[in-house]
Amino acid sequence: MSNPFKPTAGMTPPVLVGRKEDLEDFSYALDDGVGAPGRLMYVTGARGVGKTVMLNALGDIARKQGWLVIDETAESGFLNRLIGALQDDGKPRVGAITMPSGSLTIPGTPVDASLNLGSIQFSPSERALDFRRVMSQRLDRLEKHHLGILITLDEVQASSIKEIRALATAVQHLIREQRNIAFVFAGLPSMVEDVINDNVLTFLRRAERRHLGDVALDDVRQAFATTIALNGKHASENVLDRLAQATNGYPLMIQLVGYWTWRASEAGPQADDNDITITAAERGIAQAKIKLGDMVHGPAVDKLSAMSRDYLLAMAQDDGPSSTSVIAKRLERGLIYANVYRTQLIKEDIIYQSSYGYVDFKLPYLRDYLREHGAYHQMRRTIAGLR
Ligand SMILES: Nc1ncnc2c1ncn2[C@@H]1O[C@H](COP(=O)(O)OP(=O)(O)OP(=O)(O)O)[C@@H](O)[C@H]1O
Ligand SMILES: [Mg+2]
Repeated sequence: MSNPFKPTAGMTPPVLVGRKEDLEDFSYALDDGVGAPGRLMYVTGARGVGKTVMLNALGDIARKQGWLVIDETAESGFLNRLIGALQDDGKPRVGAITMPSGSLTIPGTPVDASLNLGSIQFSPSERALDFRRVMSQRLDRLEKHHLGILITLDEVQASSIKEIRALATAVQHLIREQRNIAFVFAGLPSMVEDVINDNVLTFLRRAERRHLGDVALDDVRQAFATTIALNGKHASENVLDRLAQATNGYPLMIQLVGYWTWRASEAGPQADDNDITITAAERGIAQAKIKLGDMVHGPAVDKLSAMSRDYLLAMAQDDGPSSTSVIAKRLERGLIYANVYRTQLIKEDIIYQSSYGYVDFKLPYLRDYLREHGAYHQMRRTIAGLR
């Protein structure tokens, strides 16, 4: 039996847990007609929370209604790729033309002069005009049938701000012209914030925001039950409870726990009887935690500044929520200084304020991950030495 769970970035899961309302809102916005607020939207949240999968699901809704949907990632040159996709012939447009170099001999002089015409680069603003033109052409035809165009842009980041500006300005014009379009972009919270706070793109601040978070454990449990049963295996109530609880409602972990438990159930002595035992579940959960560390915790921690990392290590000394003033002491810093890093980590969806003056980890199992890695023990010794 093939494994139904999909712990891979951007892969649509067997059951999309807990996002029904978001999808219904978008569907409503498409039906609602030109200018509906939900047609301009951004999706943020921590790594693995399901942003890309959400863009795919929104795209599916629009496609089902007959819309043209173009999905792009905000890597350099995306405007050009969008224009290519919008053109009927589907051919990509050239972003630069390198002119031929020629040489000429000037009579009477001993040297040959060479002539280099260089290259011509098209700027993003010229590209924006092209984009508007091809969008308008496609819309002229689609709108006759009451259809439109949805553009989704994933992995939005500050480094592509010039092209995003060009694209968003063109989108703004098309909205003003009352064209039948929708535009949804997605990225990590701090990245998206940089983009919507850009001075040129003030209109994006009015876009609807979907900050994706954990999903309800009851829904997770139901998704496990359905997926396991539909794929020919069986799990007891007890096992289902344990699987759901181990995910903490974090979408990537749903797929990791499901995938590794399914695998564990296919190895070992009872592999043939289609029952997912509690032993298989525990083995799967342990493996899922390791994979989560490699896929999410490691990259997330590596990306942080040394001070933010120390802040997390100081938090990992506690078994539950940490007092912000105690953290500042452990870091040997003032509260105001430490709070700069606290704010940054909250913005990144890595920690959250659990009550006044207290913070806790938001990414599940990050505490365990930090404890399993050397620096935690170093800090522990340092703190003990200070006492
Ligand atoms: N609502 C959901 N229910 C169940 N599984 C989900 C849900 N959303 C996402 N997943 C699963 O979680 C994993 C991560 O999803 P996705 O790649 O969309 O996250 P992301 O937010 O785009 O992450 P990144 O920031 O790394 O790009 C995938 O394996 C996907 O199948
Ligand atoms: Mg993604």
